[in-house]
Amino acid sequence: MSSLSNKRIILGVTGGIAAYKSAEIIRRLQDQGAEVRVVMTPAAGEFIRPLTMQALSGHQVHSSLLDTEAEAGMGHIELARWADLLLIAPASADFIANMVHGRADNLLSTVYLATSAVVAVAPAMNQAMWAHPASIDNIQTLKQRGVTIIGPDSGILACGDIGPGRMEQPQAIIDQVSGLFNNSLLAGKKVVITAGPTREALDPVRYISNHSSGKMGYALAEAALAAGAAVTLISGPVNLDAPERCSLVKVTSAQEMLEASLQAAANADIFIAAAAVADYRAAVVADQKIKKQGDEMTLLLEKNPDIVSTVAAANDRLFVLGFAAETQDIEAYARDKLARKKLSAIVANDVSRSDVGFNSDHNEVSWIDADSSKVFSKRNKTQLARDIIEHLVSRHSL
Ligand code: C5P
Repeated sequence: MSSLSNKRIILGVTGGIAAYKSAEIIRRLQDQGAEVRVVMTPAAGEFIRPLTMQALSGHQVHSSLLDTEAEAGMGHIELARWADLLLIAPASADFIANMVHGRADNLLSTVYLATSAVVAVAPAMNQAMWAHPASIDNIQTLKQRGVTIIGPDSGILACGDIGPGRMEQPQAIIDQVSGLFNNSLLAGKKVVITAGPTREALDPVRYISNHSSGKMGYALAEAALAAGAAVTLISGPVNLDAPERCSLVKVTSAQEMLEASLQAAANADIFIAAAAVADYRAAVVADQKIKKQGDEMTLLLEKNPDIVSTVAAANDRLFVLGFAAETQDIEAYARDKLARKKLSAIVANDVSRSDVGFNSDHNEVSWIDADSSKVFSKRNKTQLARDIIEHLVSRHSL
């Protein structure tokens, strides 16, 4: 079975002579079993007729952000959520610059900003434009954000120049995007992931919590889904949309997260504890709002259960991956946690750095298990999550 089988792909077409090749890309994606929707920029319509793309994709082509009828059918946010992959081919120099700057002035750039799907771009432009420092910087920025750049190919360009800038051939594009979905890696496996902070009530209006955004756990859920797993995401309160195809269990406190985790892990293959669980909770939760009293107040806290070690102790067949956020002696503390909590592996990161970790889109981490360690240099959490899942599979013969 192709790794693109049943994948939902938005083919974004921007203005360039290579747009005629997009028609063939639709066909070849469909041959792999993918479902394709086409989004065209206004300039793309000058190079290839939307009708051609509609006939090939079997669906209405989306091209305007301001088309009320189209928005009522499948609006830009729905499209962004629907997709597993956003493939922009051809991507003009102008569109790439728009992506870098987060401009949302047409439907395709808006979908790009709103999607959490895998994004791949096949640039197509004149060789001098491709070699310009502005384009070089733009491509570098997109790569750092986890966007896959496909090509460009080298050869005679439409303008008669020779050099790199020609859009990659359709089959080469298909081969590269297939590689983005290792969807057999976790096919048939059940993965449970905890994410986000927990919230421990003090009284009906106050609580103890932390700054965890949940981004790492949610990115891991996306990556595990893309690898073909059935995913249960057990999440504390966060401001993120859960991936459409995971089973989401919303919890608030550590105790609730523990109960949901034990239940879900009982028939799972892999448990990933990415949640930032509050270590303590109020010994007594007041029924009524606690009143101000004097200049100081004392709260009696009691220890929360350790979710990951309880789950590990209850399921000896389970592969258990923990996370360790440290500010010093990262590897030593992580190894201690690995042993103490009886984890199969641990991913450690340095939270003293402001450019990675908590609330950031990026992270730099080390994978540590009983007999190996591996550093994943700074990259965005989407890419990191895919790399962690791939490494997990390679370290654990499932
Ligand atoms: O001990 P520490 O909080 O640093 O351990 C971090 C790891 O343990 C993370 O994987 C976190 O999700 C998990 N953990 C847990 N339950 C707790 C505390 C931490 O599952 N009460």
